[in-house]
Amino acid sequence: MIRKCIIAVGLVTWLLNLEAQTKKTFTVDVDQPMAKVSPNMWGVFFEDINLGADGGIYAELIKNRSFEFAQPLMGWEKLGKDIPEGSLLVLNRPGNEQNPRFLRIKKHEEGKENLGLRNEGFRGMGIKQNLRYDFSVLYRQEQQGIRLHVQLIDSLGQVIGEGQMEPEQADGQWHKQQISFQATETEPKAKLNVWFDGEGQLDLDMISLFPEDTWKKRSGGLRADMVQLLADMKPGFIRFPGGCIVEGHELSTRYQWKKTVGPIEDRQLIINRWNTEFQHRLTPDYYQTFGLGFFEYFQLSEDIGAEPLPILNCGMACQFNTAELVPLDDLDEYVQDALDLIEFANGDVQTKWGKLRAEMGHPEPFELKMIGIGNENWGPQYVERLEAFKKTLNDRYPEINIVASSGTGPDGERFEYLDTALRKMGIDIIDEHYYQSPEWFLENAARYDDYDRQGPKIFAGEYAAHTDRTAGEGNKNSWRAAIAEAAFLTGLERNADVVSMASYAPLFAHVDGWQWTPDLIWVDNLKAYGTPNYHVQKLYATNKGTDVVPIKVDGEIPTGQNGIYASAVVDQSAKQLIIKVVNHSDQAMNAELNIKLKGKLAKQVDQILLKADLLDDVNTIDQPDKVAPKESSIAIKGKKLFANIDPYAFYIYKVAIN
Ligand code: AHR
Repeated sequence: MIRKCIIAVGLVTWLLNLEAQTKKTFTVDVDQPMAKVSPNMWGVFFEDINLGADGGIYAELIKNRSFEFAQPLMGWEKLGKDIPEGSLLVLNRPGNEQNPRFLRIKKHEEGKENLGLRNEGFRGMGIKQNLRYDFSVLYRQEQQGIRLHVQLIDSLGQVIGEGQMEPEQADGQWHKQQISFQATETEPKAKLNVWFDGEGQLDLDMISLFPEDTWKKRSGGLRADMVQLLADMKPGFIRFPGGCIVEGHELSTRYQWKKTVGPIEDRQLIINRWNTEFQHRLTPDYYQTFGLGFFEYFQLSEDIGAEPLPILNCGMACQFNTAELVPLDDLDEYVQDALDLIEFANGDVQTKWGKLRAEMGHPEPFELKMIGIGNENWGPQYVERLEAFKKTLNDRYPEINIVASSGTGPDGERFEYLDTALRKMGIDIIDEHYYQSPEWFLENAARYDDYDRQGPKIFAGEYAAHTDRTAGEGNKNSWRAAIAEAAFLTGLERNADVVSMASYAPLFAHVDGWQWTPDLIWVDNLKAYGTPNYHVQKLYATNKGTDVVPIKVDGEIPTGQNGIYASAVVDQSAKQLIIKVVNHSDQAMNAELNIKLKGKLAKQVDQILLKADLLDDVNTIDQPDKVAPKESSIAIKGKKLFANIDPYAFYIYKVAIN
């Protein structure tokens, strides 16, 4: 009998504990707004890494179109048997520093020789059935004689699209000519043959192939599916062009925006620094053609309603590489680049750079409001150079906010030194980076709770939860990483009075050409998909609200107690309350959400749920939606919402208020 009683008491106690453990009471105070959410809070970080631009979002299908790679025929293969000496020559034209090389074709005796070139594309070319392809060249000839026969071929060598071009002008000057043809099949790894028929001599440069279905159907434009994924996020800003690419391995390979604007044949190509960065991921054919240059970045920002945030070199090459420095006395050229960039973006069309913008098709200003000086630079050399930029920029353009880097990580000596120096200097926005473990993200949801409310704003400029070694095969865009980020981001949202911008990094990766993992969006030559991390970013960006309101769980600010994280915002224009809850525990919960407000609540709540079967689940090209948000609705009782919360799940509740 006594034994039975002990067992019964034990059972009741266990049940009571379980009840206490799994029932959580949330309180949201809608009438007590704490802070404004910056309208451009959630954005994207763009860098040409992992074939992000060339071979990625920039839709050019020909690799090494102007023969300017270090090996002039890289990406090209000569076609034909017993090709006579001198039939295909790469020549260098003096006086053209930007694009010196071109190809000379000399052909005798029509029909006797079979002469051509094959381009392999960027890990092949993604070709779609029935789509139009635009083939163009720059050519020069004294006399007509050589005709071009172009063929798209599939991986078996079968022709899946072809066209003929007869260069028309014969005056010894360079001309552009284009033909279009349709593809008859879909093929992810096509190649392009260019056969030379007839006889004579012809010079060729800028051999180019673009699909018709670019973003906004712009000729020579961007891959629409990749841009669409960005547009769907409704990003508040685009940071470009990086990243370490801004700094360069050495100063000569730094990003120079002036070399990326104007006619594309005059944009001087350089090696991509990610070409050689990682020994285990060498990418010898990775160059920056700048077909996606600063004009196109501004245009893209405008297209998708994002504030442009260009980052410029501060006079220092990457400190992980050469750390080459521009002496302070010689910094003027760099500072001038920043001034000229503001003129290019915002200046009147009568100004030198405003005029170029207008000539490129955009007389209206791009409304640039902020500019970043330096990326992941550190030490006193950075501070000295930044001071020089700041003085001139503040004098000339006081309305432009300056974004400055606090180095490579979220803590430690480098960070402390820079954070102190930048605050002392009165920098507008401090750019913090953290590539850390999922555990770090889970433990740091309260990172900004104690930040100075009067100091500079924080831009969480590059972050990602790394489940393994950076740039390793095992570093996955898994739910394990994404849910840790979702938990951490509740802390950014709660502190929206301090944190004004945030972006995951890097943005894109090609499945056959990546250097760095993890990445927000993965693509192959034909398809693109968002990772679980993408869905987290998108859910925050598309549910950002306008005002932060307080939320407590069992009387406490939820920063990970029992695995619970939460934040809440109100959208004053949409008249909506938006609550975000992350359960990072293996326990399901019964949540009672008490909503305090004087006004009325709708009777239904829209619920968005993001979760996976397993923490290690990932999306892939073949299963792009394995981890994707699911929507449903729950009835509300008065001002209480009762919700079942699954283990390891991210919820958003949206309810109309008035
Ligand atoms: O996002 C990849 C790289 O990480 C960026 O180029 C750099 O800023 C950081 O180290």
